[in-house]
Amino acid sequence: MSDAQMGNADTREFAAPAGAPASVPPSFDIDWWTTLSDPEFLKNPYPELKRIRELAPVHLDPVSGVYFVLGHKEFGQMAKTHAMGRDTTYWASGWSSAENQANDPETYELFIDFQPQMINANLPDHRRMRGVFDRAFRPRDMMRYLPMIEDECRKLLDTLPVGTPFEYMAAFGNPLPNRISLKLFEIPEEMRAKIGKWIADLSWLGNIVMTPEQKRNAKQSNQEFKQFVREHLGNLRANPGDGMISLALAAEEDGTMDEEETLNNVVMLIAGSKTSLTLLGNGLLSLLKHPDQFERLRADRSLMPRAIEEMLRFEPGSSIIPRAGVEDYQCGDVLIPAGALAIGLVGSINRDPARFDDPDTFDITRKPNHHSAFGGGVHICIGKALARMTTEVAFNALMDRFGKIELAGEAEWWTDRSDQRGLWSLPLKLTEA
Ligand code: HEM
Repeated sequence: MSDAQMGNADTREFAAPAGAPASVPPSFDIDWWTTLSDPEFLKNPYPELKRIRELAPVHLDPVSGVYFVLGHKEFGQMAKTHAMGRDTTYWASGWSSAENQANDPETYELFIDFQPQMINANLPDHRRMRGVFDRAFRPRDMMRYLPMIEDECRKLLDTLPVGTPFEYMAAFGNPLPNRISLKLFEIPEEMRAKIGKWIADLSWLGNIVMTPEQKRNAKQSNQEFKQFVREHLGNLRANPGDGMISLALAAEEDGTMDEEETLNNVVMLIAGSKTSLTLLGNGLLSLLKHPDQFERLRADRSLMPRAIEEMLRFEPGSSIIPRAGVEDYQCGDVLIPAGALAIGLVGSINRDPARFDDPDTFDITRKPNHHSAFGGGVHICIGKALARMTTEVAFNALMDRFGKIELAGEAEWWTDRSDQRGLWSLPLKLTEA
């Protein structure tokens, strides 16, 4: 899932955190917020991220007071320390500050409504909530969903045209994760369009800057989505089964989570599926742009798990991962003070030559491959086994069915958001095997 609750109306307005330490990093005159939202940067962020990382692995933006972490080692350690948490109410000048509450009550209310859930919680609340769902998302527990995932995949593949160009994201990449998610959470198919809209609206919560319209839509969708989940849980209470919903119901009933936490976590887990579409798109594009690697994978499917890790490293779907300082934290050479916000830039972290040989080379046999596409520490993505399994099933099925998978035009990257990297379109032409 994207990094909800990081976004704010305009981070440029925030002052540097009080009591900034003496060891602040040198400033390199980078206009961070312009850079990170520049459409040209978003089309291909890697050269600029490389330039900035070579200046220093950790930066402070003196204008916003936000720290940016570009080094692999620095991010890996920051993601693991409890001195830096995901609860952004610790960000002293962020959305929850008294000043922001008074100046921008709309943003405050939007975020406070979405706040009680595992992705926004530090220990011990995080452990309490994550423990409810963790077991169900382990790779071996996910295996029970394999036939369902294969079935959903097959149904969509049946709809793809052979021999004529079509848009893969609209026909396959976007719908597949949503369909799987509805099945996982026992949601009737007629809700598909509505859920799709709610997820799309909520996804903007993770972006660096939200427009007033996006805020209004996110608020409305959050309320509607929660109301739907409330009714859905109510309907299933009499007959809970043994799936994800039963875990949520049991946790609410035995008091492990209160109602708000239950609703927000279920909404987040359903919405989290959307991120998988970035892997289905970005990953396939990486293969298509590297035909030698694609051929190698076709010839030896046992390489698929490693190929998927390389897709995640090379073109990660989540671009930014936030942490807020609970205590002062020494990040490499830089002291990040309590109350500051730090953002890991995954496109840089995953191509840090200090960790990866030839980081700009797409190599499906790369091993080891300790990328950070799923974040790190206790918050590491709970849905990672599901995302990997979905992609493995999808790419194997595509290759089984189609002897040739070709680009039928230029792929287009999203250029309207800084928090996620995905494709607006991926034109393809398929030839039967
Ligand atoms: C390729 C697909 C995916 C990517 C790239 C991705 C990425 C991420 C990232 C970067 C984080 C934050 C980790 C951190 O802060 O260190 C995260 C957390 C999370 N993701 Fe995913 N995700 C994906 C798929 C999914 C799926 C399929 C689901 C739901 C079924 C999901 C649900 C979540 C949840 C609930 C969290 C919060 C976990 C916690 O705070 O303990 N994600 N994901």
